[in-house]
Amino acid sequence: MATGTDRDYWASQALPSVLKHKLLGQYIPRFGGMTGSRGGKVVYLDGYAGEGRYESGDAGSAELAMQVAAHHLEKNALLWNCFFVEQKPDSVARLEQVAADYRAKGVDARVHHGDVDGVLDEVLRAAGGLPLFLFLDPCGLGLPFDRIVETLNQRRSAPGRWQPTEFLMNFSMDAVRRLGGNARSVRGLERSSETFDKACGGPWWREHFRPDQPAVANVDEVVAAQYAQRLREKTGMFVHSVPVIRKPGQKAVYHLVFGTRSEHGLWFFGDAAARARDAWWEKLEIKEEREEDALFSVASVVRPDPQEVTDAAVPAMADNMARILDRQKRPFKLLNHTLEVFGDYFGQVTEPAARKAVKLLHSNGLTASTGVGGRTHELIVEPPR
Ligand SMILES: C[S@@+](CC[C@H](N)C(=O)[O-])C[C@H]1O[C@@H](n2cnc3c(N)ncnc32)[C@H](O)[C@@H]1O
Repeated sequence: MATGTDRDYWASQALPSVLKHKLLGQYIPRFGGMTGSRGGKVVYLDGYAGEGRYESGDAGSAELAMQVAAHHLEKNALLWNCFFVEQKPDSVARLEQVAADYRAKGVDARVHHGDVDGVLDEVLRAAGGLPLFLFLDPCGLGLPFDRIVETLNQRRSAPGRWQPTEFLMNFSMDAVRRLGGNARSVRGLERSSETFDKACGGPWWREHFRPDQPAVANVDEVVAAQYAQRLREKTGMFVHSVPVIRKPGQKAVYHLVFGTRSEHGLWFFGDAAARARDAWWEKLEIKEEREEDALFSVASVVRPDPQEVTDAAVPAMADNMARILDRQKRPFKLLNHTLEVFGDYFGQVTEPAARKAVKLLHSNGLTASTGVGGRTHELIVEPPR
């Protein structure tokens, strides 16, 4: 972020941040609930924390985490050990004021002024034997790929089991397009390409921006998909990427790349992503209504009707389930087949769509399971009797 635009950025939440914050705010309480036992502890790092709160009063990523930590503390459910790192002195000062409010309520909110890379080892030491969530939200390029992989592969043990590490990370599509353009140009700077090599874990991305070859449409998306795939391969995690746009029809500004080794994590992330997308559309509608000179609302014209999306998702998901049954010929738990159950609708529809799909399968005589009762992710889908 250029300094001149900082005040604009922190005046109020822009649309991409609505999605980002909704996703974070929906998912991290789940992470705490899933991984931290009652009265236990989890460690949280917001590595590019910013100011914590917008001038409008809305919570930024740091305050969102503090709110979750305060809520869990109040319920005596879980202790969050939160690290917030920010490089800009002005932003740190504002962030520190927000953190002080929460520390007064007992929240363990530690603000560090500096580079996230310099604080990472301290965070990892604090997370010895504890679950760890990393939120990495740089405005351009973030930590080197190898550093991320090394961090995610570090085994932090507690008696009896390895402790989970999960992450949500901003992968800048603006940076991909800019640095891709630089690599393709005869006047491009090699130093910039080398910086991007580090962020990507090698020069593999350059293949897509060769000066001697014509530009390919959506090459930025190809690079993002390959980045996620490389993370998958190097860490063995489930990695899922959510594109974030400013306006309908535009290219993604960034992808939010999520990683977990847990089936539960994947299931609840998909649900959180669908809720975050809905919040994005709602905010767009409100924004357009407020803009006096808007002749018509783009959102009202192009927003996919959530009910129609669910109506299309349910039979498609029922088909996916039927395919699993057909292949396995034995009962399966939804949670153990999250990506296959949701298929193309992963991150597009919320959890209740999966229950509706089981019910549809039942009414078509293709499963003995009724889909009634119990928690959705734990539903067992049985072959028909
Ligand atoms: C996109 S903003 C963060 C927004 C914030 N995460 C939120 O959602 O409310 C990125 C922030 O990272 C800070 N930053 C940039 N490089 C950094 C580094 N190496 N270590 C820590 N902070 C850094 C910037 O000063 C900026 O405030």
